[in-house]
Amino acid sequence: MTINQVKSLESLALQNIRHARTPEELELLRVKHLGRKGDLTAVLRSLGKLDPEVRRHVGQEANRAKEALEAALDEALGALKAAARLAGTPAADVTLPGRRLPRGRLHPLNRIMAEVCDIFLHLGFETVEGPEVELDWYNFEALNLPPDHPARDMQDTFYFNDKVLLRTHTSPMQIRTMEVRQPPVRIIAPGKVYRRDSDITHSPMFHQVEGLLVDKGVTFADLKGVLTAFVHQMFGPELGVRFRPSYFPFTEPSAEVDIECVMCGGRGCRVCKATGWLEVLGSGMVHPAVFEAVGYDPETYTGFAFGLGIERIAMLKYGVDDIRLFFDNDLRFLRQF
Ligand code: FA5
Repeated sequence: MTINQVKSLESLALQNIRHARTPEELELLRVKHLGRKGDLTAVLRSLGKLDPEVRRHVGQEANRAKEALEAALDEALGALKAAARLAGTPAADVTLPGRRLPRGRLHPLNRIMAEVCDIFLHLGFETVEGPEVELDWYNFEALNLPPDHPARDMQDTFYFNDKVLLRTHTSPMQIRTMEVRQPPVRIIAPGKVYRRDSDITHSPMFHQVEGLLVDKGVTFADLKGVLTAFVHQMFGPELGVRFRPSYFPFTEPSAEVDIECVMCGGRGCRVCKATGWLEVLGSGMVHPAVFEAVGYDPETYTGFAFGLGIERIAMLKYGVDDIRLFFDNDLRFLRQF
């Protein structure tokens, strides 16, 4: 055995290893060259028969060749396994739908607010907005509620000081609008209002939509027509509507509007307190004292106004019996709408 023979045995083995296509083929090559009866093993075993000087050189070469083959076998096996892993990975399916992004939605109160405003816009009303921090003049006095008026107790107020408060209703927008415009006026004023009030049907912050229509010759029949049209669009044309005499300092006569109970269909239940009717808004003909406060001539102009609670309408429309659910922002509740 010579060094050259070891080298040619090694290069032949390396060539075989490079051409192997499966791990099984590699295993056969390992046995063939390095196994107990392998050809390189045979060379190493036969070293003893060689001349000591030759043995040293051939032995060194044979051991180097053995290490080289072992390394080549390991590397080839790693490469074959990696290729198999890649082949096992399915190609990307471009027809699969993408991962969906969670989609937000409008809060139920915003939806009802938008729906209410939309109905009035189609009836010819224009939207105006004003401050939540309000002066006593706009919230009370100009609305025919002088400082000692007992009706101020109807609305528990958050005051900053004697003159500045959080508005308790959207009615101050009647005054702010009439101060800067001449009739005809046809506006709605949506917004937040605040009262010291909290239970399952009352919240310290809630939303109202104010309405005001002023012109020559406006009558209570116009009020009834507009508000009946609104209720029918909001709750459906079959629903009964009634106008019940009421009192507000800034309207005369005044009426609260009731709808047939949407929960029991008017038969009487816990929600309508067995009356069959539910109150949805306050309204009335604008009081002459209010016209005087803004410089309109009450002999020339008449008008009607109304104020409705958005939470109340949302509760009726969605069958929600606790107003606080709207403000908890529990996603399990909100996702139902
Ligand atoms: C008013 O606020 C009058 N400004 C309405 C009005 C305007 C009458 C124009 C005449 C002319 P009232 O206090 O009744 O009225 O409130 C109107 C509506 O707001 C109620 O029908 C109710 O739906 C709602 N509301 C009142 N208080 C609360 C509260 N704490 N939480 C939720 N909704 C409330």
